Amino acid sequence: MKLSFPGMLFFLLGYILCFSDISSFNNHFVDAETLQNFTSFEMEEQLKVIDEHAAKIIKTTHGDTYECVDYDKQPAFDDQTMKNHLLHYKMHQISSRKNSRTRKINDKKFGFLWENGVGCPIGTIPIQRVTKDKLLRLNSYSNKSKPQGSWNFTYNQYNVDNEQHHFSVARTKRGEKKSYSGVSMAISVHDPEVRSPQFSSSRMHVQIGDDFIQVGWIVNPALYTDMQPRSFVYTKAGKNQCYNSLCPAGIILVRSDIPLGGIRGPPGVRGSTQIVYDTYGLLKDKANGNWWLEFGGIQIGFWPAKIFQQSLANSVEWGGEVYSASLPGPRMGNGYFPLLDPEDDAHVCNITLVDENFKIDKMVKNVETFSDNNHSYKVYEDLDSGLPVGHIIYFGGPGKM
Ligand SMILES: *[C@@H]1O[C@H](CO)[C@@H](O)[C@H](O)[C@H]1NC(C)=O
Ligand SMILES: *[C@@H]1O[C@H](CO)[C@@H](O)[C@H](O)[C@H]1NC(C)=O
Ligand SMILES: *[C@@H]1O[C@H](CO)[C@@H](O)[C@H](O)[C@H]1NC(C)=O
Ligand SMILES: *[C@@H]1O[C@H](CO)[C@@H](O)[C@H](O)[C@H]1NC(C)=O
Ligand SMILES: *[C@@H]1O[C@H](CO)[C@@H](O)[C@H](O)[C@H]1NC(C)=O
Repeated sequence: MKLSFPGMLFFLLGYILCFSDISSFNNHFVDAETLQNFTSFEMEEQLKVIDEHAAKIIKTTHGDTYECVDYDKQPAFDDQTMKNHLLHYKMHQISSRKNSRTRKINDKKFGFLWENGVGCPIGTIPIQRVTKDKLLRLNSYSNKSKPQGSWNFTYNQYNVDNEQHHFSVARTKRGEKKSYSGVSMAISVHDPEVRSPQFSSSRMHVQIGDDFIQVGWIVNPALYTDMQPRSFVYTKAGKNQCYNSLCPAGIILVRSDIPLGGIRGPPGVRGSTQIVYDTYGLLKDKANGNWWLEFGGIQIGFWPAKIFQQSLANSVEWGGEVYSASLPGPRMGNGYFPLLDPEDDAHVCNITLVDENFKIDKMVKNVETFSDNNHSYKVYEDLDSGLPVGHIIYFGGPGKM
């Protein structure tokens, strides 16, 4: 393996302007202790100063249109049972804000992501506009088109044309009786080719009983109407499941200036040191059991503990998932089989597991690799890369060539 990481890190520091605190934050839940205490943001204050006169429809610098929705009007609060939560959050959101480091991180502003230079007015959150047509269309696709975990799939090298999901992942071992309260990763960004309604995602998946959360990037023209890799969140909680904010089980967003579903990238060029990373964390709040999403070290939203049937996660996986929709399987990762080099491969690094006692594991040795079809998609792991990022998972493939 080429020792190309110094270059990669340099690029990381240089490129990801919007998340330039990553390096100090280390994306390793070194701050887990603090985060548990820091249950939320200045939402309380924000809610008091809603700027009535500000624009309600805004655009990102990429030209995506978002609607600024009042915090308490976001779809996640549509569910009747959530109305009580709303009150609860208004009253108890803010707990300790003692830690200056966390303060600093959360005080960062991301106005530069927006045409108007600020994002949504205080007290509102940006939600991507979806037409009724698109929502209906999304709902008309079969249940098989929805994101899933790999655990219920078995190896079958011939099965590439059926309406199918394929996985190349590293995952916590099957049948293991462990529980997790947190998980994180850094993931390289690419733009694999797909044909609607196929999708190709690179993500982590956290299974919480029958429920789950996925976060990462996805190329999904049916959802986003383009071929760009975009950040996404997928939630399944009880009878509800959806991308981003599209249902009552969806994430409750708390930032007025960070768009979910934004274009990631520019995607890395294969063989170059310019690797673009996104970092994601899902971590339970020790105080109230809510699950928080961290994106680039910033807490951008949460799921109330109550919407999931159980408290802790049972299993976790990192890697690629594609949905073929009865067409030849689409590309996964960067569309190439891994060569075990970060410059050439789609990969996940800096993976972390947090156990039920909030103990952080950065080695994550209890994982196995799984590909349901390694003629089309492969996965390898390097437990001890010797690079500063520790455990690396390389994955991807051309699909049905
Ligand atoms: C991975 O972790 C190392 C050490 O904590 C950090 O320096 C590096 O920036 C991280 N890499 C990414 C891609 O987040
Ligand atoms: C977090 O809260 C616990 C008690 O709730 C306290 O013992 C601990 O010192 C706090 N940690 C920080 C970093 O504030
Ligand atoms: C999807 O599954 C749900 C319940 O699991 C069911 O009610 C619905 O009819 C299914 N939709 C399709 C299109 O099969
Ligand atoms: C996956 O398998 C488990 C049992 O191993 C079962 O409880 C669960 O319902 C299955 N999920 C799906 C989506 O088939
Ligand atoms: C492909 O998967 C099969 C079944 O898990 C395994 O026996 C084989 O070693 C794998 N081949 C490669 C190249 O990963």
